[in-house]
Amino acid sequence: MLLAIETSCDETSAAVVNCGQILSITTASQVGLHAEYGGVVPELATREHLRNLQPTVLSALSKAGISTHDLNGIAATCGPGLPPALMIGWKAAQSAAFALKVPLIGINHIEGHLYSPWIKSGKNFANFTAFQPNVSLIVSGGHTQLVLVHGLLNHSVIGCTLDDAAGECFDKIAKLLDLAYPGGPQIDKLAKSGNPSAFKFPRPMFDRPNYDFSFSGLKTSVRYLLEKNPELKTNNAILPDLCASTQAAIVDVLIGKTMRAAEETGVSCITASGGVCCNSALRDGLALACDAQNIQLQLAAKELCTDNAAMIGILAEKKIENGCEAAPYDTDIKPSWALT
Ligand code: KG4
Ligand code: ZN
Repeated sequence: MLLAIETSCDETSAAVVNCGQILSITTASQVGLHAEYGGVVPELATREHLRNLQPTVLSALSKAGISTHDLNGIAATCGPGLPPALMIGWKAAQSAAFALKVPLIGINHIEGHLYSPWIKSGKNFANFTAFQPNVSLIVSGGHTQLVLVHGLLNHSVIGCTLDDAAGECFDKIAKLLDLAYPGGPQIDKLAKSGNPSAFKFPRPMFDRPNYDFSFSGLKTSVRYLLEKNPELKTNNAILPDLCASTQAAIVDVLIGKTMRAAEETGVSCITASGGVCCNSALRDGLALACDAQNIQLQLAAKELCTDNAAMIGILAEKKIENGCEAAPYDTDIKPSWALT
């Protein structure tokens, strides 16, 4: 049985997993705490992780009906992420693994997202047996990457954002529209009653012959539009159109590049994960596009899209099964640990 801890940004999460099954998961979200600042404040996040980590871990152990003595491994995110936030979860995992004399597994947060679509939720049963080579879209507040996954634990990054991540773009545009943080879910909600063709926003890098993204220009277009027409954002009838149009610009690029990557690499499976993968237009659009191309689509369950320790624990188990070595107890955090 393995305890997993995730504290790379603003969620304090602990999970107990065993043989591919999620036995329990407890996540303390800090969303409310950072809302008034329009983004995560590292100092506040760190203090909150400190406050929440012990109760979160105790809750996960208790929900799983086990004690620390039943654990035969501890996994935690050791990068990338906010250094002081990572430090809280990683140091706790290190100390616990040392005290219990069990292996410590350091997991790359983005790699956790990468394999999360293969975790079946609902019955909390993880099943990697139907694993297919795939093109994987990882879209979160901090990352936007396309990865070619040749096999389990064998992957290479084929594209990434050159500036803002897709989630960051959602959040920054939402801030321009005076919507609450995090803005992605707000835009998603308002867009449902809006017209995605009402405003013509650019589809950055859509036609470039690579798998990279760029979202900062889109944010700038929205800013210019609002500066020239300040009445737009106070017009409740227009707000859904603005949301639907910006969402369409982001989602079109994400889907277009992902489909092209699948076509050009010849894989017949696409997966998607990360917080932005909660977005309904992205989920529906990928489903339609994959259906049309006869491509298998494996989306992360919505509850496993945002940061969580279950994806860290399940991946750690796979690493152990595949002979990856435990981390020395004095291993440091890796705040800039890129997925390659
Ligand atoms: O994966 P995540 O929890 O944290 C990071 O690793 O960054 O992703 C958080 C991001 C935020 O930018 C948030 O606005 C975005 O995911 N997000 C969404 C939706 N739900 C969360 N973006 C668009 N539509 C959504 N429904
Ligand atoms: Zn994440």
